[in-house]
Amino acid sequence: MKLAPSILSADFSALADDVKKIERGGADYIHVDVMDGHFVPNISFGAAVMKSLLGHTEIPFDVHLMIENPDQYIDDFVTEQTAFITVHQEACRHLHRTLQHIRTKGVKTGVSINPATPVSALSCILEETDMVLIMSVNPGFGGQKFIPSALKKVRELDQIRREQNLHFLIEIDGGVNLENAEEIARAGTDIAVAGSAVFHAENVEERVWALKAVK
Ligand code: DX5
Ligand code: ZN
Repeated sequence: MKLAPSILSADFSALADDVKKIERGGADYIHVDVMDGHFVPNISFGAAVMKSLLGHTEIPFDVHLMIENPDQYIDDFVTEQTAFITVHQEACRHLHRTLQHIRTKGVKTGVSINPATPVSALSCILEETDMVLIMSVNPGFGGQKFIPSALKKVRELDQIRREQNLHFLIEIDGGVNLENAEEIARAGTDIAVAGSAVFHAENVEERVWALKAVK
């Protein structure tokens, strides 16, 4: 399984150092959690913080916009290093148009759903997206407990993509740790996000390596 450590749980006063650690561990993406205090009850950081990492690492950015009106901010997050920009289904009035816009910028698209949103809410958009991000906690904070029903959604999506011959990736975000990683991988997850499990570990580098090794 690929791993996208979330810098939400990193040491902001030494962000570049923390990112070096996950780079040595072999992290596949840097998960960038952007929160606006409206869509979710917390404020994190914006594009300037993400861009401050350019030149310090070559790990591609996996941007997760937990914000209202994402259309207004998407362009700010487009860089040479931006691999994915994910928006929330619940925050987009014209989701199809938003995904098209991201794609015109040469960036891969992602759509995320909250724990209370069913997979069926994505049925008309699965052909249009490169990735689906299943929230396994209610978005807003790191360090929360994994909500097991997220696994059902991963299995459902995995089946849909096989039956319909679609190629979107499945990412899971929230409460991922060494204990549940195997079950998450087996359900069909391609990319796991982990914040506290990575950055609060005694040895960050080793923890990245251990989580990535889960099959
Ligand atoms: C939650 C964020 C997650 C979170 C993951 O709103 O989208 O990416 O930071 O952190 P952990 O792994 O600590 O649940
Ligand atoms: Zn996230």
